[in-house]
Amino acid sequence: MSNILVVGACGQIGIELVIELRKLFGLENVLASDIKEHCPPSLAEGKYVQFDIMDQNALVKIVKENNIKQIYLLAAMLSATAENKPIFAWDLNMQGLFNVLELARNKKIDKVFWPSSIAVFGANSPMNNTPQHTIMEPSTVYGISKLAGERWCEYYFKKYDVDVRSLRYPGLISYKSAPGGGTTDYAVDIFDKAVKEKKYICYLDKDTKLPMMYMSDAIRATIEIMEAPKAQIKVRSSYNLAGISLCPQDLYHEIKKKFKDFEIEYKPDFRQEIADTWPNSINDLAAKEDWNWKNRVKIEEIVKKMIIGFSQ
Ligand code: NAD
Ligand code: SER
Repeated sequence: MSNILVVGACGQIGIELVIELRKLFGLENVLASDIKEHCPPSLAEGKYVQFDIMDQNALVKIVKENNIKQIYLLAAMLSATAENKPIFAWDLNMQGLFNVLELARNKKIDKVFWPSSIAVFGANSPMNNTPQHTIMEPSTVYGISKLAGERWCEYYFKKYDVDVRSLRYPGLISYKSAPGGGTTDYAVDIFDKAVKEKKYICYLDKDTKLPMMYMSDAIRATIEIMEAPKAQIKVRSSYNLAGISLCPQDLYHEIKKKFKDFEIEYKPDFRQEIADTWPNSINDLAAKEDWNWKNRVKIEEIVKKMIIGFSQ
């Protein structure tokens, strides 16, 4: 019987998370789901169900029929796309979370993972080494929805003892699936274009530093926080999570070591305004102290893995 449900399994994080969870807990125990009709080939070995997280009845039925005890809720609209569809993004990002939190409140499931983001910070937050607890005045609909989601997670924990755990992911870098409309997506696209076209037009300025992380570290963090003893999870809004900090120019120089003829042009668009309000770097001391978090993959290794990944 399946007991873990991943919602939004066909996305950038979902694909790699499902693969790792299935390795750890068994193919038959991890049910992948998404609004998409078909799952990607890399998930096709295990069970897959198509459904819309906005449909509470469908969610209840799937949880019951598959004896689901844990939900990883990844379905959301990311920062750049959300700016073009603010009301739709707010509805999806909030209602999806409420549907899952309500199931947990009614004791139909035991544990929830829900990701937040560096987007919860805003222009008035300290930009460098941004602390766990600080001024948070996000200016994007995505950031507003993530901050509201964090407050609701903490509320459900305190009021109803819902065991919901969360991470403020930085921008995630991976090659196994395309990113889904975020401001940090350039850090994936740049490799794709470097390998295939030797030229990249970057929508952020060359020195726009943002917190980033390689996907394998993000997946490990996700599973580590979910597997940690309940008493160790002291932050019930969402934990800061730090990997590396980099700007487009840093990646350009690293890629150029491999491709001497690689060229970059900077043409900032509306995403520059979003990135300008996000931190340069993150302080994740709380995650380190509470559940022993440690980032592993550094920039040189990321560049190597990404180039190999996109060259295959
Ligand atoms: P993504 O856009 O790549 O994937 C989201 C998936 O959710 C897609 O496969 C999509 O089809 C699915 N989905 C959309 N609407 C749905 C619905 N109504 N019902 C069911 N499924 C639906 O996003 P991602 O990058 O994998 O991000 C996953 C989560 O992590 C999101 O909450 C996002 O905010 C958060 N996050 C991601 C990053 C990042 O860099 N990727 C950083 C911070 C936070
Ligand atoms: N990578 C995400 C985005 O840019 C951050 O949450 O939207």
